[in-house]
Amino acid sequence: MDEERMISPENRDENEEIIEKSLRPQRLKEYIGQGKAKHQLEIYIEAAQQRQEALDHVLLHGPPGLGKTTLAFVIANELGVNIRTTSGPAIEKMGDLLAMLNELEPGDVLFIDEIHRLPRVIEEMLYSAMEDFYVDIIIGEGPEARPVHFPLPPFTLIGATTRAGALSAPLRDRFGIVVHMQYYNVDELSQVALRTGNILNAQIEEAGAYEIARRSRGTPRVANRLLKRVRDIAEVKADGIIDELLAKQALALLDVDENGLDATDKQMLQTMIETYRGGPVGLTTIAANIGEEIDTIEDMIEPYLLQIGVLQRTPRGRIVTETGYNYLGYPYIDKEKT
Ligand SMILES: Nc1ncnc2c1ncn2[C@@H]1O[C@H](COP(=O)(O)OP(=O)(O)OP(=O)(O)O)[C@@H](O)[C@H]1O
Ligand SMILES: [Mg+2]
Repeated sequence: MDEERMISPENRDENEEIIEKSLRPQRLKEYIGQGKAKHQLEIYIEAAQQRQEALDHVLLHGPPGLGKTTLAFVIANELGVNIRTTSGPAIEKMGDLLAMLNELEPGDVLFIDEIHRLPRVIEEMLYSAMEDFYVDIIIGEGPEARPVHFPLPPFTLIGATTRAGALSAPLRDRFGIVVHMQYYNVDELSQVALRTGNILNAQIEEAGAYEIARRSRGTPRVANRLLKRVRDIAEVKADGIIDELLAKQALALLDVDENGLDATDKQMLQTMIETYRGGPVGLTTIAANIGEEIDTIEDMIEPYLLQIGVLQRTPRGRIVTETGYNYLGYPYIDKEKT
């Protein structure tokens, strides 16, 4: 609905994608946070290099904007190999995938974003490609049709998805390394904001970065976006220096609250409290009430609300927690007791 949503974790347009590219860390050392995954990857990468083999296939899953695409490029850089990128919806025909596979050199990375959206036939073609590095396809039609066996060089498939649950079991099982991306803590997001500030030549103080980090919903993409808007405000309305006070004032202007919630989040919680006594309410009902797509709620609004504990998922629907009531300043009704 609201296209200007400051704290949306989605990448909104091509322009943003270009800016993001310039902000992406290139090596594991520069990659902030995700400590456990980084540590494991370091070991697996070194082991693959020692054996002079392709790294096992890697599945990166987690909410938008947490650094999946960034990490895929970092892995290829660390391996010192080429990376070819595509996405699930972009591969429509077998020929599309074959063309990509055909360009791979031994050890290269093939990155498939939104891998849960691959067409079924393509997915099935990937099974043998991933497991034994070949594909069998049928060329021609009718009596002319004949099977062709394509051997492939050993390569690493890196798949990224916001929805691990939407992946079929046979595909999921073929990934030797599975990384579940974690939300970033405020310290890590402060580092992201400071790092980006440096790259953009913004004058940002640690306390200013901290204020931005607190409101970034655990998401580096949001931290970067808030930083850019705050910098605009600092430069136009003040002396350009992003200190604590300026950051607070700017973020208030941007309508992002202390915890990074905006009007849409609050509207959702409020509707649930006022119209449905805090739930349980089904997602479809919530969506209709606040005029958002179900997918938008599931991918972009709800994960963070669950994360900070104002919302809870139950088998019968979503409920606003006591924390959620307090957050919005409503008296809590414990339905177990009434
Ligand atoms: N660990 C990190 N350290 C520093 N910056 C990061 C990190 N992770 C992500 N970023 C920044 O956040 C931006 C978004 O990251 P990225 O595009 O990799 O997210 P994503 O998980 O692929 O999102 P989507 O699901 O929308 O594809 C990047 O441009 C990068 O600047
Ligand atoms: Mg991505």
